[in-house]
Amino acid sequence: MNSTCLVCSAAIEPFLSFGRMPVANGFLSESEFADEFFYDLAVGFCDHCSMVQLTQPVERERLFHDNYAYFSSISTRMAAHFEEFARSVTSQYLATSDPFVVEIGSNDGIMLRHFAEAQIRHLGIEPSANVAQVAIDRGINTICKFFDADLAREIVNRHGHANAILAANVMCHIADLHTVAEGMRILLGRQGIAQFEDPYLGSILEKTAYDQIYDEHVYYFSISSVQRLFSDHGLELIDVASQSVHGGSMRYTLAPQGARPVTNAVVEQQRREAAWGLARAETFDKFRAAVERSRDRLSEVLREAHKNGKRVVGYGATSKSTTVTNYCDLSPQLIEFISDTTPGKQGKYSPGVHVLVRPYEAFAANYPEYALLFAWNHAEEIMAKERDFTARGGKWIMYVPEVTVV
Ligand code: SAH
Ligand code: TMP
Ligand code: ZN
Repeated sequence: MNSTCLVCSAAIEPFLSFGRMPVANGFLSESEFADEFFYDLAVGFCDHCSMVQLTQPVERERLFHDNYAYFSSISTRMAAHFEEFARSVTSQYLATSDPFVVEIGSNDGIMLRHFAEAQIRHLGIEPSANVAQVAIDRGINTICKFFDADLAREIVNRHGHANAILAANVMCHIADLHTVAEGMRILLGRQGIAQFEDPYLGSILEKTAYDQIYDEHVYYFSISSVQRLFSDHGLELIDVASQSVHGGSMRYTLAPQGARPVTNAVVEQQRREAAWGLARAETFDKFRAAVERSRDRLSEVLREAHKNGKRVVGYGATSKSTTVTNYCDLSPQLIEFISDTTPGKQGKYSPGVHVLVRPYEAFAANYPEYALLFAWNHAEEIMAKERDFTARGGKWIMYVPEVTVV
């Protein structure tokens, strides 16, 4: 099916289709099965503005609401990452009198709490009411709305310009990026900077991390697509820095056009992208072939385990796992349950394939032969705390960057 680019309106065609998919974070109870929402998940590449994107995004109100399943503070690794992020912003950009920081998609306050604790003026913008409430209860100033240009004007009227606008794992969630970019330009004034980070297209392709593709991730950014998009709104990409979180992310720094020098890192990363062919259609065809191989292999490993009477438990009911379980058709027959530490997911069923999510204790009380690591981006943290599982003969099934049993 033909679509148009969400950024520049050029015609685009999908290079990879996953078929019908449920909402990735839509963990549900049995009584909700009959009304479960499905859509066609497919990604395309715009050869005009080089943005990789979903060809049919789901409306945002279906994804972000008062029952949003993802609480950022669940991972100690991410908590440490955001503490470091807050520290670097404070030392680099807030050495001025009475600075003001705004975070878009501040969730439960995992990053903003550090500014609140340091009594730095701050404001979180978080439309999902249940996670926003956790931040508010922690004493973090939070507005429960979607960020856009109108809200940016309101914030400037009330609080003045921001010295720093921060955003993590949220820009790629927002289909209408033009109003966000415009809002950022309005909110920054002349002196400020914006820093945002998201899973990086280069890492997704390199690791065949196709499970990063789901409804909330509307965009898969590269240096060139980000540069082009924001330059239309008077914002210049002045720095980039790779981050190891979420399987490989990129942090982008923007400043008003001409306000600050552009670092070498931008130029070097652009060169790498050109060498990898991140703006060539055949790169995405190769990716599709690798994804299909990965799916076939994972499906084979799980069907083999089932045939041999082995127990398999999923580890981490991630939003990413929804793409994997549905695309590879991993039913409750193959996966006994998924272990997850998030109270709101426990006792519910995974979207689409309906595997039960159970508390971590269910995993620890009766180790299976195999644990399928859906939360592979937290592998280090998880492997370190699960030595007992492997010491007792348990094995991990991994599928990024390749399907392996270790
Ligand atoms: N920054 C956190 C949360 C990422 S999840 C972290 O990295 O862990 C994405 C968050 O962005 C969700 O809490 C969602 O409700 C919020 N969000 C989605 N669209 C938004 C928008 N237009 N403006 C502000 N926040 C948004
Ligand atoms: P994420 O990949 O989007 O960060 O989501 C991680 C999910 O995995 C979240 O639902 C919490 C869960 N989880 C565990 O169950 N145990 C763990 O040790 C970690 C790190 C995450
Ligand atoms: Zn485009």
